[in-house]
Amino acid sequence: MDIMEKLGQTKEYIESRLEGRKPQIGIVLGSGLGDMADAIDSPVIIDYHDIPHFPVSTVPGHKGRLVIGGLEGKTVLCMQGRFHYYEGYSMEEVVYPVRTMKMLGIGNLFLTNAAGCVNETWKPGDLMLITDHIKLVADSPLRGKNPDELGPRFFDMTRSYDKALITCAEKAAIKKGIPVRKGVYMLFTGPSFETAAEVRFARIAGADAVGMSTVPEAIAASHMGMHTLGISCLTNMAAGILDQPLNHEEVLETGERVKNTFSILVREIIRSWPL
Ligand code: HPA
Repeated sequence: MDIMEKLGQTKEYIESRLEGRKPQIGIVLGSGLGDMADAIDSPVIIDYHDIPHFPVSTVPGHKGRLVIGGLEGKTVLCMQGRFHYYEGYSMEEVVYPVRTMKMLGIGNLFLTNAAGCVNETWKPGDLMLITDHIKLVADSPLRGKNPDELGPRFFDMTRSYDKALITCAEKAAIKKGIPVRKGVYMLFTGPSFETAAEVRFARIAGADAVGMSTVPEAIAASHMGMHTLGISCLTNMAAGILDQPLNHEEVLETGERVKNTFSILVREIIRSWPL
C-alpha cells in the first residue's frame, strides 16, 4: 500500500474518533514532559495501538497515545510519546505521526524534547527555543520516492523553525517571567549518549544542544509547509563537560524538576500562538 493510501486510512480512523473536534496545533511531548497532556480539556484519547498504520512507542517514560482537546483556547492534538530512530523505526516511520497531523488539517507543529546542553555557559534545567538544527547523521525522512501530494522533492530548510513563532514564544516567556535560551540543536542517533569528542565537535560545529529526536519531524514538517516551533529542555550537561558519566535518570530527574515551569511556558505559547 502506498504512503498516501495508508495516511488516508489513518486520517479516516482518527477523524471518526474526534467527535467533530478540529485540531489546530500538533504538539509532540518529549521525554519526561508527557504530563502536559493531562491539562487538556474534555480530551479524546486514542492509543497508538488502535490507529491503523501507526508505529507503537517502546521507551519507558513514554506513553503511546494521542490526546485531542482544548488547551488555552486552542484545539490541540498532543502526542504523548514519540517515535525515535534508535528504537529501530525507519525515518519514514518516525515522521508518520507528523504527516498524519498534516492530513488532519493541522498546519502548526510544536516540538518538545529533552536534550543535552553543549553550551558551557548554560545549565541543566534551562529551556531553549530551537532556532536551527544540524543533521549529519542518519538518512532523511524524505529519502526515496517523493510523496508529491505532501510536498516538493527539493525543499527549503531556512524557515524550518518559524521566526514569528520564536518571537511569540519569547514574548510568552517574558510574560511568565521564565528565562529562555535560543540555540541550535544537533541530532545524534543514540541510543548511546554522545562521546566527549562528539560533544566538542558539536560545539565547534555551532550546536548548543544535542539530542536524539525532533529533527526528522522538523524536516517532514518543512516538506509539508507546516509552521514549526521547537523547545528543548536541557536536562544535563552533554558528555565530557563535567567530570561524571551521563545517565538517563538525570535526564528524567531534571525533566521532573522543570516540568511545571515548562508546562506554564508551553501553555502561554499555545494561548498566544498566531493562527
Ligand atoms: N544527549 C542526547 N540526547 C539527550 C541528552 C544528551 O546528553 N540528554 C537528553 N537527551
